[in-house]
Order: sequence, then structure tokens, then C-alpha cells
Amino acid sequence: MLLVNIRDAARRLLEEHTRTVTWRGKRYTFTVPSPDTYPFQWFWDSCFHAIVWTHFDPERARRELQSLLAWQRPGGFIPHLIFWDRWEKKSAPWYVGWMESGGRSRFFPTRARPETSELMQPPILAHAVYRLWEATGDVALIRDLVPACNRYYEWLHNVRLSRDRLLSLVAPYESGLDSTPAYDDVLGYRSGRPAWEYWLRYRSVVAHNALRFDHRQHEVVRWGPFHVKDALVNSVYLQNLAFLAKLNDLVPERWEWEKEYFAQAMKVRDALIKKCWDPKRQAFFNLNGRQGSRSNVLTVASLMPLIFHWLPRQYVEPLVEHLLNPDEFWLPYPVPSVAATEPAFSAKSRLIGSDVYRHWRGGTWMNTNWYLVYALRRHGYDAEADELADRCRSLVFRSGFRECFNPQTGAGLGAEQLAWTTLVVDL
Ligand code: GLC
Repeated sequence: MLLVNIRDAARRLLEEHTRTVTWRGKRYTFTVPSPDTYPFQWFWDSCFHAIVWTHFDPERARRELQSLLAWQRPGGFIPHLIFWDRWEKKSAPWYVGWMESGGRSRFFPTRARPETSELMQPPILAHAVYRLWEATGDVALIRDLVPACNRYYEWLHNVRLSRDRLLSLVAPYESGLDSTPAYDDVLGYRSGRPAWEYWLRYRSVVAHNALRFDHRQHEVVRWGPFHVKDALVNSVYLQNLAFLAKLNDLVPERWEWEKEYFAQAMKVRDALIKKCWDPKRQAFFNLNGRQGSRSNVLTVASLMPLIFHWLPRQYVEPLVEHLLNPDEFWLPYPVPSVAATEPAFSAKSRLIGSDVYRHWRGGTWMNTNWYLVYALRRHGYDAEADELADRCRSLVFRSGFRECFNPQTGAGLGAEQLAWTTLVVDL
């Protein structure tokens, strides 16, 4: 693939993955991450798709976001997964993903199929809306999206924010980093144990939330078996509160919100530093369980507070050092989702001692790289950002728009033609 063709190929991919449906008399358009593997609409994927769409067709970006917002509940929650086409074979009764939806009776084959999941994903919505405004400078295009954004972040604040000012997750998929080894301890899984054991522990979290609590958010947050304050999700959250402040500034009638959201962002930043920063290892780590013990696995999430513009320099420098360390993250095709020095790291993203591929156990992903390229630029590391962007392009030349990549060889892993890998055109 030639450099000039990357943009064309990305656009073609997004067009081919576009689906239009009519629901309650209105037409909605969105992009599926992969027609074979992921034939539905996912929350953070759609926000990434919208960002890439702003390069080709801002109106299409707006429609992508509108179809997500069509499923916003009265309290502000937006599900991480919208099934739309309920007759798709992957929404068949035996599809395990169903456990992520409400209604216990869904487990019985004869009952109605679910429309959405009951989980969240990293809250990058305000960022996507901001990019839409940036691409066009047209406030009219985002005016009706901003109140919906406010409601979404208010839901997060009301339902997921703990007293310590950090957001809690109730299932591994909620971070989008599904099988990261940072969750192994919480799941009670030890590297080297059989793959089926991992699967059972992993799935039982959602089964428990579904069967015991029917996914009622307040109860799951309080008593559910999985409780993690994830460094990536909280970094995305605080960065988005700052975008939300800017959006409210753009929409004049809502100006009074601006200062409040920014102040909230700073509080989340301070909480992240206070609770998740490990002074010995000079990186951020998730908090596990309700007692909040710090995880000790160095993953790409540990670097993510870098995406916040107002992260003090004393944290920026050590994080960039980790990122550029050739023993940890600066592998031939950076940035692996797990530091190469970690015992759980696998370049082929497998469970140690098994042939089973699992997401986020060492592969390089385009969305986290995209975040880190911007973060490096924001903190003044332009040469390093350019180098990382170049290596992202060479990954796509070499292996196409794969879901993720082997950080040592650049070989593709996971699904083919994954839509958010087109973020490479935004670097
Ligand atoms: C995988 C990823 C998740 C993503 C989904 C759809 O499950 O781990 O982050 O949203 O695929 O692409």
C-alpha cells in the first residue's frame, strides 16, 4: 500500500463497513468495527470512526455519533454495544455476548433478543464531538450533541464515580482492554493456567452481574464481583471532562458548565495521582477491588495519564521514559499493550502456556498508539511522536488494517479490516 493510498483505503474500508437502518421511523447510519467479527455498533469504536470520518465527510461523522446517542437512556447512560440488527447470527440465543444485556429471560432461546448491552466503554464521546467541531468550525453541527454529552458525563458522575473521585468498572470489557493481564488478579487467574479456566473466570463476571443483579448499575457497582478503577478509563474520563468544558464554552447558553467540568477534571487528575501513581515504579497502576489495592502489571494503561494536557511535568517525564525504553514499550513496532518486561507479556497476545489468542496481552493497537502520538506532541516530544506515527504507518503498509499487531514482527493479529485502525490517517 502506498502512502497516498492509505487515505483512500481507509475511506473505502469505512464505507464498506457502513450500515444504515431504520428504527422507530428514523434512519441511522453507523460503522461496524468488522463485518465478520464485530457486526454491531460499539461505543468507543464509533467515536474513533467519527474522528476518522471528520477527514472525509463531517456530516457522516455527525450521523455516526447520532446513532450512538439514539440509544441514550433517560438517565444519560449510553450502552457499549448496540445490536441494531437483532437477526444477525451473532445475536443468536447461544451467543455469549448476550450476557452483557439486561433481562435474565434473554437466556432462554424463545425470548426477545436484546437491543443493547448494559456496559459502558471508555468515555471518549466529548472528544469525538469536539473533533467534529474542530473539523468544521460549525457550532450548528454540534449544538444538539452537547446536551446529550452533558447527560452522559453526568451519568458517569452519578453512577460510576466513587468518593475518591475515580470511575469504577464492573466488567473487563468496560475498559475496552478486555483480557489485559492487569485484570488477572481481580479475576483470580494465574499466568500458565489453562485457557478454559481463564474463559470461565472472565465470563462468570458478566454472568454474575446478569443473573444476580440483572445489571442494575447501582447494585453491580456496590456488590458485583469485578471492581476496578482503570488508569486508561480514568485518563480518558478526565481528558474528556476538559473537552466537555470547551464544548460548553462553544455553546453560549450552557457557558456556566464550562468551569465546573474543568474543575472536575482537575479533581480526577489529583485523585489519579494520589491513588494510582506508584512512586517506586514511576508509573500509574489500576486500583483493584473495593479496597483499591494497586495492580502491579505495567501495561499501556499505565502510560495513559499522558493524554491529559495538565499532567504535571514530574509525571510526564518518567512516563515518557517508560514509553521510550526498548526493554519495555519501545519495541520494533511500538507500543505493545503490555510492557515486554512483564511475565504476562506475549508478542502474539496469548495466554502464557497456551495457543489461545486474547486481546490486549501484548499486541500493539492503533487506538492506544493514536492517543500516545497526540500525547507526545502535547508534551513537546515532537520527534518521538513523528517516529511513532511513522511506525504506525509501516504497520499498516506491512499488514493492513488489522485489529492489532505483533510488536516484534509487525504481523497482524485478531480481526482483519478493523475499522478503528484507520485512525492511522489522523496521525
Ligand atoms: C474488542 C476490543 C474492544 C473493542 C471491540 C470492537 O473486544 O477489545 O475494545 O471495542 O473489540 O472492536
